Amino acid sequence: MKVPLLDVTRIPAALQAQLEARAVEVLRSGEYILGPAVSAFERDCAELLEVPHALGVSNGSDALLMLLMALGIGPGDEVIVPSYTFFATAGAVARLGATPVFVDSRADTLNMDADEVAAHITPRTRALIPVHLFGLPADLGALRSVAGDLPIIEDAAQAFLSRRDGRPVGGIETAGAFSFFPSKNLGGYGDGGLVTTRDPVLAERLRVLRAHGSEPKYHHAVVGGNFRLDALQAALLHVKLPLVEAELTGRRANAALYREALGDMPELRLPPDRSEHSYNQFVVRFTDGTTRDRVQRELSAAGVGTAVYYPLPLHRQPCFASVAGSTRCPVADEAAATSLALPIFAALRADELAYVAESLRSALCPRG
Ligand SMILES: Cc1ncc(COP(=O)(O)O)c(C=O)c1O
Repeated sequence: MKVPLLDVTRIPAALQAQLEARAVEVLRSGEYILGPAVSAFERDCAELLEVPHALGVSNGSDALLMLLMALGIGPGDEVIVPSYTFFATAGAVARLGATPVFVDSRADTLNMDADEVAAHITPRTRALIPVHLFGLPADLGALRSVAGDLPIIEDAAQAFLSRRDGRPVGGIETAGAFSFFPSKNLGGYGDGGLVTTRDPVLAERLRVLRAHGSEPKYHHAVVGGNFRLDALQAALLHVKLPLVEAELTGRRANAALYREALGDMPELRLPPDRSEHSYNQFVVRFTDGTTRDRVQRELSAAGVGTAVYYPLPLHRQPCFASVAGSTRCPVADEAAATSLALPIFAALRADELAYVAESLRSALCPRG
């Protein structure tokens, strides 16, 4: 059997028809840049995410960049980021000439460790960017208690509609950044992103930055960029928006099936069993890197798609050598060496999931 890590084309025929009809509507409307499709999508995102301001933007990387720009962050400033995350979290900081300060993650959740943050705050620290990694909300309460008044940007790229204490992430702290990359909880048909905030002043700055800092038109008090979300993308995302909860329910049900099938293996570490986890990825960990690599090869030979998120922590990336220096992040190192993402998308069939679990079990303990 062949089981893909993710199949974004596996959607109900009725939804496919709705998407196609909506795409044609936008094509015929003549309004392709911002306009009603983008504002309607933003309005419904704001409502769903329980936040007063939501702005559609070009992608999740630019969402982070714009938020740092809106906070006035630049050369000489430090921004604390986890080492174990996707590149964009730290890339946004470096793109502005500021310094990413890498901290380690908690061994249990793989999210940013508040004690580590406390140890790395200096007079130059201007913000923190915790990531809700793989869909599991970071401990924002602990982070806020060490951050004092520093702005906290939630990198919620992987966590659309994950909730912490009942509240959707991205709308809890100073601001949130989301991605609509096709593999995300709300996946688009190309690139897209969203910035959210409760702060009206920050929201207005973001709106201006999104269009080259132009306010009024062709007058620029600040330098922004072209950070707009396409109307076509917004319209398609809007069609899928009401279905995100069902997607997350499906992912959680699949996670529960994996727990049943694999929970008895001491040599395998499953992700934290939390109802607030949205499982954008279902990442398991092995006892060592050699085992992880061997299991991945054997799963691939059995036709099972997997991925390593992320093989090289950011404090070890060549482009950050001069800023990371002798930074130590042992949990990030261990996670990079031993973790493996299994197929988890909602449309995964039960027989496919059972095949993944069986293949994993026989790769890990051939006789058991
Ligand atoms: C944690 C994290 N931050 C930021 C991004 C950047 O999003 P995008 O790919 O839309 O630029 C991603 C997505 O890939 C991500 O996973």
